[in-house]
Amino acid sequence: MDEQALNATILERTDLDERLAIVRVRPDELPLPEFLPGQFVQLGLPDEEGTAPGRAVRVDKRAYSIASSPAERDAFELFVALVDGGRLTPRVWKLAAGDRCWADPQPLGRFTLDLAPRGKDLVLVATGTGIAPYVSMLRTYARGSARADPGRWNRCVVVHGVRRAGDLGYADELAERTRADPSVCYLPIVSREPEASGWSGLRGRVQAVLEGERCSELAGTPLDPERCHVFLCGNPDMIRSVRELLAPRGFTVATARRPGNLHFERYW
Ligand SMILES: Cc1cc2nc3c(=O)[nH]c(=O)nc-3n(C[C@H](O)[C@H](O)[C@H](O)COP(=O)(O)OP(=O)(O)OC[C@H]3O[C@@H](n4cnc5c(N)ncnc54)[C@H](O)[C@@H]3O)c2cc1C
Ligand SMILES: NC(=O)c1ccc[n+]([C@@H]2O[C@H](COP(=O)([O-])OP(=O)(O)OC[C@H]3O[C@@H](n4cnc5c(N)ncnc54)[C@H](OP(=O)(O)O)[C@@H]3O)[C@@H](O)[C@H]2O)c1
Repeated sequence: MDEQALNATILERTDLDERLAIVRVRPDELPLPEFLPGQFVQLGLPDEEGTAPGRAVRVDKRAYSIASSPAERDAFELFVALVDGGRLTPRVWKLAAGDRCWADPQPLGRFTLDLAPRGKDLVLVATGTGIAPYVSMLRTYARGSARADPGRWNRCVVVHGVRRAGDLGYADELAERTRADPSVCYLPIVSREPEASGWSGLRGRVQAVLEGERCSELAGTPLDPERCHVFLCGNPDMIRSVRELLAPRGFTVATARRPGNLHFERYW
């Protein structure tokens, strides 16, 4: 591996199972730049096919939402899924603490709470590792957090849809936030957990929490387009389906030209 392309170190890696890991990456240049919760960083490894002599080293890079708060100044925390047959993640899976990688020094992206006016109800919907930006938002703004901002939202409902209960990264932390901050409500939902597993929580896809009056019943937060902004992150099929579900209720996608109350980050 070409040392020139490497500007960061894997500080820590926690495997949730064989295909989900929380990875802490420390760039050589510290402190980290300021960023907004919801932004992503590009992580990479030098192209395995190599680079022609005399040419700049090519890096295979992919975007990863930052799960840590910007108040944490020594490492980016990322929540990464192994994609079978993917170009980068099978290589990332071979890395351990102490190994070197490439990280873009500059976080990027506009999927931040700046998209919603202060004091609104927020419904933050994720599938899979799409929970990462919301973890950063709560770690930053929720009561007792690094840069607590009680007026940032009125209610903040986090809906996390995964296949199996074991895929619910950050579940303990998010449940604890619900206990510690009455403005926060965490609703995990599983789609493929075996009936006999002992899971007693919600089952189905995230839509089951967003249909009819379910959000009001489960979280005490009606899906009212006047009061509420919805954020969607992760699987593009989920984003498409939820957009279709919420459009008749008056939720419109915000664009550069037109304000709206629906915001999304597609992971692929
Ligand atoms: C703004 C942004 C933020 C992102 N944040 C995260 C994050 O926090 N955590 C994370 O794990 N990933 C995240 N991703 C996805 C990530 O950038 C890569 O796409 C992913 O890690 C796969 O990379 P790969 O090189 O292994 O696979 P690739 O070779 O790039 O992809 C192979 C195929 O797998 C599919 N695919 C890509 N990503 C996924 C996925 N996550 N699940 C299922 N299928 C997929 C696509 O159809 C793709 O064509 C983010 C993407 C974007 C655009
Ligand atoms: N999770 C695993 O056990 C597992 C194992 C091996 C490989 N993989 C691979 O890893 C990658 C990522 O898997 P993942 O489980 O993290 O993410 P995922 O496939 O995006 O699934 C996460 C959640 O999103 C749901 N979902 C999918 N389409 C949706 C839609 N249109 N509307 C609403 N919800 C929707 C899934 O429900 P459904 O269950 O109903 O689809 C699941 O609850 C995939 O390529 C997968 O093939 C996953």
